[in-house]
Amino acid sequence: MKRILIVLIASTLFLQCTYNKKPVGLIVDKAMVVSAREEASTIGIDILKKGGNAFDAMVATEFALAVSYQFAGNLGGGGFMVYRTNKGESGALDFREKAPMSASRDMYLDSLGNAISDKSKKGALAIGIPGTVAGLFATHKKLGTMPIADLIQPSIDLAKKGIIVTEKQAKRLAKYQAEFREVNGKDIVLSLEYKVGDTIKFLQLAKTLERLSNVGVDDFYKGETANILVRELNKRGGNMTLEDLNRYEAKWRKPITFKYKDLEIISMTLPSSGGICLAQILKSIEPYQAKELKHNSTKYIQLLTEAERRSYADRAHYLGDIDFVNTPIDSLTDDAYITQRMGSFDWNKATKSSDISHGKLNGYESNETTHYSIVDSFGNAVSVTTTLNGGFGSKVFIDELGFFLNNEMDDFSVKLGTPNMFGLVGAEANSIRPEKRMLSSMTPTIVTENGKLKMVVGSPGGSTIITSVLQTILNITEFDMGMQEAVAEPRFHHQWLPDVVKMEPNGFDKETIQALKDLGYTIDISNSIVIGKVNAILVLENGQLEGGADPRGDETAVGY
Ligand code: DON
Repeated sequence: MKRILIVLIASTLFLQCTYNKKPVGLIVDKAMVVSAREEASTIGIDILKKGGNAFDAMVATEFALAVSYQFAGNLGGGGFMVYRTNKGESGALDFREKAPMSASRDMYLDSLGNAISDKSKKGALAIGIPGTVAGLFATHKKLGTMPIADLIQPSIDLAKKGIIVTEKQAKRLAKYQAEFREVNGKDIVLSLEYKVGDTIKFLQLAKTLERLSNVGVDDFYKGETANILVRELNKRGGNMTLEDLNRYEAKWRKPITFKYKDLEIISMTLPSSGGICLAQILKSIEPYQAKELKHNSTKYIQLLTEAERRSYADRAHYLGDIDFVNTPIDSLTDDAYITQRMGSFDWNKATKSSDISHGKLNGYESNETTHYSIVDSFGNAVSVTTTLNGGFGSKVFIDELGFFLNNEMDDFSVKLGTPNMFGLVGAEANSIRPEKRMLSSMTPTIVTENGKLKMVVGSPGGSTIITSVLQTILNITEFDMGMQEAVAEPRFHHQWLPDVVKMEPNGFDKETIQALKDLGYTIDISNSIVIGKVNAILVLENGQLEGGADPRGDETAVGY
């Protein structure tokens, strides 16, 4: 009996210790890639081991995600990259999709002016002109060091050899079968009943990758791939032309840079709202000493929620493609403006979103995604978020090319004031125009401290991307967490409209939720909700790297 008791006490203590142990990510000395799939992270790291730099690894990782993570990794989508070199130079690349030349403001409305709900989300008309391939070649041209063929070859090999189906992937594939059939009118390569551990080969995709490797970027925008794409999309009622593809270019942009306490933050600028909103929210909370508030306590959630509410209201009104809309970025992130916006914040009750509109600016002149983070042994850092928008994008799959096309057109304000797939509303600044880029929330971000690299971070999650990145940065800097812990912590989100605080289930205690309700907040804890999937790297004080691979997905850190 005594023995049983001792064993029981010992195992309870052991379980408690295990339970209380903070999660720690992979720690390495030199270089790391954290992405949504182990195969992709490994391919990226292999390039770094061969002497390639972070930009070479980006190209290799992105192609590998296009093979292994077709849910969001892509050739038929777009994204953003923020980088910082070991010399401290930073930059950003916009390879966001854009509207076809034939697009028009009301193209998704019926004769009564109502939004036709699925038209911007599913099928050939939902597709924006893809930017990923242009983005990869532009990165390689400016910053890469290895021959591009060497960066594509591992993905060609992977597509031929096949990928192993994970549990999460098997569930996801099962969930989308009906839509694949509905949109494509037949079975596609992903239509078989795949079980965990099965191998899926992508032979057509391997051929497309081989052509890209042999011919270069022109294959996708002018050559055989372009021709097949336009021919097949036209058969399905699409509107993409060869001229649309010919005219597509990835654009180098000046990233948003700002200070939060001792940190310097480098993030994506328009056409992504990510950097501007991140700057607004962090600046809004800076005077309040978040450190003094308990992590994920009522007060902490209140403070972030109120800052987010005000920022997303500005997002909806002012933000759109900078090439089309004169957006007052400096005024929106100006300290005095932010202070005035937070002036109506009251600890004693929730502000109502109906009482908050966009702010009045002085001097304003009339305006299923995936993230990977890379640090190389030279000290270069790359932060990339890329997307098809919804899971498997428009669900349109071109057999002959072996890839899905995005449904990014839904990120425009299809009808002014009508919520999109993420419940975001938009105004004139984000209305559809030919060749305009739709507003994004993607927030690839790099953080430095005292001139040294500290963190590479980003997430998928539509409108929740910004707040997922925000909370991860705060977990590190205000609550002294490690990278894996910061990424794994439960998250919450507010986006002005709808006026609800979304919270991950099981992450928050009943008292906190009740206290928020008593203050007038509406709480949404839906059972299936996952907020963001953050993949990040932290440079530890001794110079080692800790990976944060989000346990919400199959995310994996690989390094050496
Ligand atoms: O650009 C954007 O903000 C969206 N298209 C991102 C979509 C996304 O994150 C979907 N993943 N959960």
